[in-house]
Amino acid sequence: MLKRFSVSIDKLLIEQFDSFIKKNKFANRSQAIGHLVREALVGLEWEDNKEVAGALTLVYDHHKRDLVKQLLGIQHDFTNNIISSQHVHLDHKNCLEIIVVKGKAKQIRELLNRLKSIKGLKHIALTATTTGAQI
Ligand code: NI
Repeated sequence: MLKRFSVSIDKLLIEQFDSFIKKNKFANRSQAIGHLVREALVGLEWEDNKEVAGALTLVYDHHKRDLVKQLLGIQHDFTNNIISSQHVHLDHKNCLEIIVVKGKAKQIRELLNRLKSIKGLKHIALTATTTGAQI
């Protein structure tokens, strides 16, 4: 169900908001506001240690045996949080791995930090999103 409300906002801010809408190709202000509110609510879920979901993306050289061993060892410590993982061989030496996670925000952050501590990782990123249950 949709509800209508009016908003008073600084002139400069609304101009910036309108160019944000254009740049991001939102259909209108309502759609853009809904998007931003949901972003804020997902951020709160993570801040408040709620049940969240996400994806960890890693890039590494699989010739680094110690790195691969650590990567697997850590994942086996988080079997409650890891839903699935996908491994893609990018080229002769580089691998990309996507680990789909779910659980308390603190646990996911701990997993992220444990993985970050592995020496030799080329890149790691967390897409922090929601289970969708409360939004
Ligand atoms: Ni590979």
